[in-house]
Amino acid sequence: MRVLAVLSLVFAVSSLPLPGQTKVAAAPPMGWNSWNHFAGHVTDADVRSAADSLVSTGMRDAGYVYVNVDDTWQGKRDADGVLHANERFPDMKALGDYIHSKGLKFGIYSSPGAQTCAHYEGSLGHEAQDAKLYAEWGVDFLKYDLCSFQDNMRKAETEHPDDPSAAKNLMIAAYRKMGDALKATGRPMVYSLCQYGVDQPWKWGPELGANMWRTTDDIDDSYGRMIAIGFSQAGLAKYAGPGHWNDPDMLEIGNGKMTEDEYKTHMSLWVLLAAPLLAGNDLTKMTEADKNILMNKEAIAIDQDALGKQGDRLYESGDLDVWTKPLSGGRVAVGLFNRSWSTRDVSVDLGEIGFKSGGSVRDVWKQKDMGHRSGVFASRIPKHGVTLLVVSK
Ligand code: GAL
Repeated sequence: MRVLAVLSLVFAVSSLPLPGQTKVAAAPPMGWNSWNHFAGHVTDADVRSAADSLVSTGMRDAGYVYVNVDDTWQGKRDADGVLHANERFPDMKALGDYIHSKGLKFGIYSSPGAQTCAHYEGSLGHEAQDAKLYAEWGVDFLKYDLCSFQDNMRKAETEHPDDPSAAKNLMIAAYRKMGDALKATGRPMVYSLCQYGVDQPWKWGPELGANMWRTTDDIDDSYGRMIAIGFSQAGLAKYAGPGHWNDPDMLEIGNGKMTEDEYKTHMSLWVLLAAPLLAGNDLTKMTEADKNILMNKEAIAIDQDALGKQGDRLYESGDLDVWTKPLSGGRVAVGLFNRSWSTRDVSVDLGEIGFKSGGSVRDVWKQKDMGHRSGVFASRIPKHGVTLLVVSK
């Protein structure tokens, strides 16, 4: 009995975070965000039903835990400057409680500017007050979107024509201000910067306490836009790691305008990039194919791997592209991509990626062991398709 008590005490103490250890976003955050599907029409009921669906579809248990309300929830500030939600969100605290009651986490959205991108109330001049309000509502995640703060930056540029960094410094100070305000609440929240990659946030984001930062302008539900973003991420791997991730934007899987192969390419690229996985579809209307893509456990495990390394391009040849991501246990994930309009063979030399004597090859989408292989591994891939592999010794 005594031994058990001591053991459980040791266990309890050892599971506490060490000083300085990042508790939030140790792996790329996963969840759902309202914007890509509901945009400016989202309601409290939509968010609650998204939370219900995360549970009933198995998405929550696959790791998608953040339920993020994007732009257009805001109403007006009262005489004390306290922000209230608009009529589509009658009670934000109750919404947060509902989300938490499902074993999920609550995310919200604001802007360092006076107005958000959809012209709702931003946080300019009210940073500490808003951060406190989020903490009171039980918020676990803030996406902070540059939007109208770009007007302030343009003004700084005009006022300081001799200082090429005037706008950048102003922007960084604004993001730092909210980062500090969030910290001061004492409530751990994922801090997600959204400023479209302006001035390389991967270089200054971590120091402000940012856990992720958008690297590009917005995604949309088209193969062209999705691959333009995904394949432009080459070279950013060294800036990602536990607690701080590059964010190539939210997922479009399930929104209906790409083919199944194209959505598999989307998921494969994002997991190789160790990207935050924020589904952006209507979770109440998922096809079996959407579910299989979003909830492929082996694909998710590549994204969430304990090593916390982002993948990068191995080589590109015309429309064929090969990316690798180092995984824990000496394993390597490989994405063979065919961006062309016809079926093509895409290959990787296993010797070149650390498997001189060959390795066991697992095909993630086929969910099939391909046996012990050495030398060149080739795969026949349909147009806009992908083969996603995990190679181990
Ligand atoms: C954009 C942002 C989108 C979405 C939208 C809301 O700036 O990149 O992800 O949040 O604003 O208005």
